[in-house]
Amino acid sequence: MATLNFGGVEEEVVTREEFPLDKARETLKDETIAVLGYGVQGPGQALNLKDNGFNVIVGQRKNSSTWDKAVEDGWVPGETLFEIEEAAQRGTIVQYLLSDAGQIAVWPTVKAALNPGDALYFSHGFGITYKDRTGIIPPENVDVILVAPKGSGTSLRRMFLEGRGLNSSYAIFQDATGNAKDRVTALGIGVGSGYLFETTFKDEVYSDLTGERGTLMGAIQGIFAAQYEVLRANGHSPSEAFNETVEELTQSLMPLVAENGMDWMYANCSTTAQRGALDWWKKFRDATKPVFENLYEEVAAGNEAQRSIDSNSKDDYREKLEGELAELRESEMWKAGKTVRQLRPENTPVEEEVAE
Ligand SMILES: NC(=O)c1ccc[n+]([C@@H]2O[C@H](COP(=O)([O-])OP(=O)(O)OC[C@H]3O[C@@H](n4cnc5c(N)ncnc54)[C@H](OP(=O)(O)O)[C@@H]3O)[C@@H](O)[C@H]2O)c1
Repeated sequence: MATLNFGGVEEEVVTREEFPLDKARETLKDETIAVLGYGVQGPGQALNLKDNGFNVIVGQRKNSSTWDKAVEDGWVPGETLFEIEEAAQRGTIVQYLLSDAGQIAVWPTVKAALNPGDALYFSHGFGITYKDRTGIIPPENVDVILVAPKGSGTSLRRMFLEGRGLNSSYAIFQDATGNAKDRVTALGIGVGSGYLFETTFKDEVYSDLTGERGTLMGAIQGIFAAQYEVLRANGHSPSEAFNETVEELTQSLMPLVAENGMDWMYANCSTTAQRGALDWWKKFRDATKPVFENLYEEVAAGNEAQRSIDSNSKDDYREKLEGELAELRESEMWKAGKTVRQLRPENTPVEEEVAE
């Protein structure tokens, strides 16, 4: 563990220097890692673990296009790709990467497949934290651990292939074997994490649900929509409204924030922009903070979890989600966005002049 200073607050983190991949491989050399579910997080973690030299199998229900995707990715039916139940039986570490609603539905099967000393691994604190609602109550003789990459499974894989790593949190809910810490650390390094920071199942799910409903996804779309609508109502063209709301942010400004922080991005804009942004950001904070407080209360009360369980357990949940996504896609703002993206120079190759 390394103690690092985060804005004046000290935190213990695990880096790849202190827990190198060789040590992770040595720790898990006798383990079979069964990755259950091949949605978004499943492929990222399973492929990174495999490429890092771990013994990995995948569990996925058949008669699903997701099974075909696993085959296309090189998993071999009967050798490294199995039905969920068989993979869970074969694994000594069971990575439970079904959707949260899927985890509830399949839990009786997975529970029955766990042997004493196995590790049950999650990438989200949802199933365990809301156990009264999910019914996911693990037997006492297995380790229960968590590694939650802070990003999409797609990014986890892409960054791994670029030689980079996505930061992850880790937690231990139950240490039945006495080896839970080594197991979870080795898995965190194995799936391709940058650095690992400690959390609890509860903190992971509270912060995750707040973040995705908040600045990462819900709030940002809400703020985009509000600004776009005001610009349009005042007669600005879709092109102008979209560029001033989204395109400049994603293409020009956020990469600067990612590189060196908000002040640096501000410092690279005009002094007029800096004056205005410095004057207005606190108004936006004060206006939205009550919404964030309400959001956190809803998450902590379990209401957000229940809404998600209820709607994503329905047979037609994917169609319903797709319908609501189509509403976003078909809004003027995002239709304008499609046109703006098509007009990016990289998407409109100019024919090279032929030299005489
Ligand atoms: N998405 C991310 O990048 C991300 C990031 C961090 C953490 N996580 C966590 O990682 C876990 C997996 O998330 P995900 O986004 O990868 O999930 P997902 O894409 O929604 O996973 C779907 C997987 O679950 C299976 N599944 C769903 N319902 C099922 C059922 N009733 N019976 C059997 N299989 C079922 C699907 O099979 P079919 O395709 O056959 O339906 C598919 O393999 C979750 O705990 C999530 O919170 C995800």
